[in-house]
Amino acid sequence: MVLSEICKAVNRIIDTISSIYVTKVEILEKILAAILSRGHILFEDYPGLGKTVLAKILAKALGCDFKRIQFTPDLLPSDIVGTKIWVPAKGKFRLVRGPIFTNVLLADEINRAPPKTQAALLEAMEERQVTIEGRTFKLDEPFIVLATQNPIEVEGTYPLPEALLDRFTMRLCLGYPSTVEEEVEILRRRISWRTDDPSVHVSPVLSKSEVVWIQDIVESKIYVDDAVLRYIGMLVQSIRRDPRVLAGPSPRAAMMLMKASRALALIEGRDYVVPDDVQFLAVDVLAHHIYLRPEHVADTRCEDVVKNHLARVPVPKMPRAW
Ligand SMILES: Nc1ncnc2c1ncn2[C@@H]1O[C@H](COP(=O)(O)OP(=O)(O)OP(=O)(O)O)[C@@H](O)[C@H]1O
Ligand SMILES: [Mg+2]
Repeated sequence: MVLSEICKAVNRIIDTISSIYVTKVEILEKILAAILSRGHILFEDYPGLGKTVLAKILAKALGCDFKRIQFTPDLLPSDIVGTKIWVPAKGKFRLVRGPIFTNVLLADEINRAPPKTQAALLEAMEERQVTIEGRTFKLDEPFIVLATQNPIEVEGTYPLPEALLDRFTMRLCLGYPSTVEEEVEILRRRISWRTDDPSVHVSPVLSKSEVVWIQDIVESKIYVDDAVLRYIGMLVQSIRRDPRVLAGPSPRAAMMLMKASRALALIEGRDYVVPDDVQFLAVDVLAHHIYLRPEHVADTRCEDVVKNHLARVPVPKMPRAW
């Protein structure tokens, strides 16, 4: 597949999802930019906005295996990664792989499980491997975590630890439908699909190996000029120096922004990144990597901090005619 064909295939995924899930194309472009840059996504939104359905549609359109874990206070790390069980008839232990052995893992209501259980995801998300009782297992590629958390419920929830939050490329709000027309469209589609789970109607657009192959193309064939790298560097430095900020985006966060910008360039049919790609993704990629000073937590949103600095940091003039 040449670049234009990849771009067409990615756009077919966007069309497939849009034909079922009512949303703005920009949201789907962001989601695919995270996925094609080997990233993970945290959906933070209210109940009933279609997070689970969207994750299922995505998994199917990408030709991937899909598993879901409902996070609850009594969930154990072994319920995620797996464990060894004793089989008396055979007189030996048998390995039972947990649901993490999949391609697309929906970690539903991730902040309902205690930190020890949440931590079971750390190794998998960063190193794409898990350790079960001292033995390490490589996970299948692609490996994508789509996690959800509900912003209103505070009681009985455990805020995600910084290390886990830092492993998500993006924290994304799907948002409520913005017009009456969109509401009506969702209802019309419900009538024609005759099911609450329209993902059953999705056929794969790509295969697993094609997804991995496109991820490799993003990594190896999409050019990022030094001027764009400096732009990302200046942006994160500028945020870190903000007096409202206690801890700013990590170098890992800056890398995620670069990687997602490369994937977005490919989605847009380019083999080079432009500053617009960085700007389009910066808020959703950087905001959850920012920790405010206690006196600013009540009246400042991290999203606004990123926007302030996007408006302040000079946008590079590209050195050649792109
Ligand atoms: N934008 C949308 N387009 C099409 N269908 C939608 C949309 N939003 C919600 N739905 C429909 O609403 C129903 C609920 O969606 P879903 O179960 O995915 O919500 P959720 O965000 O996962 O909720 P919860 O947080 O309670 O788990 C599904 O039948 C889904 O198809
Ligand atoms: Mg759900």
